Amino acid sequence: MQNPRQVATVLPSSAQLMNCIANRQCIREARTVIELGPGAGGTSSALLDQMPHCSRLLSIEKTEVFGEALSEITDSRFAYQIGDALQLKSIARQHGIRKCDVVVSGIPFSAIDPKVAKQITRQVYDILDNTGVFLAYQLRDDVTKHAHPLFGNPRKQTVSRNLPPLRVYSWTKVEQGENKGWQRRFDSVA
Ligand SMILES: C[S@@+](CC[C@H](N)C(=O)[O-])C[C@H]1O[C@@H](n2cnc3c(N)ncnc32)[C@H](O)[C@@H]1O
Repeated sequence: MQNPRQVATVLPSSAQLMNCIANRQCIREARTVIELGPGAGGTSSALLDQMPHCSRLLSIEKTEVFGEALSEITDSRFAYQIGDALQLKSIARQHGIRKCDVVVSGIPFSAIDPKVAKQITRQVYDILDNTGVFLAYQLRDDVTKHAHPLFGNPRKQTVSRNLPPLRVYSWTKVEQGENKGWQRRFDSVA
């Protein structure tokens, strides 16, 4: 309530939204996932529920007050850092992570300065392994502009059973092909 532009919602994500974000193959097979904007950690717990035993989740949250709730997640695969997604690569390095399989982002890209948003999506791109997946759940589609042209066009899913209804965008990073273009592959939801 004190920082509506940064937090972007007054309610945590619904069970349906969390299921749409976490219940997918790329999460079930991930070794390393980075989450941007975990808030009070509901989405982090949903991700941990699906992730393999030998995996790790690093969540980066800008709003300090959420630190208390995040510190209550006792899963040994989980670490969090109070910080800005703009420091993604350096925060990940502090945690010994140079590459990851999935980046999940709930940060409100439509409320972020476009230049900063572009820098964040660039870092997401750099830190993802080839075939890594970028997932962003958003109210508006600004993230698609910021992710372009690095990531190409996303797959979009609308989750209407959430207040407000949100879209989940997903991109898969694919190794540069012979035509020097970045190809796009869709993440499997099943
Ligand atoms: C829409 S809320 C999502 C909260 C939670 N993941 C959920 O789904 O219920 C967005 C979160 O992103 C955080 N945030 C906003 N800008 C950020 C940034 N630049 N870096 C890290 N976190 C940020 C906010 O503080 C907030 O917790």
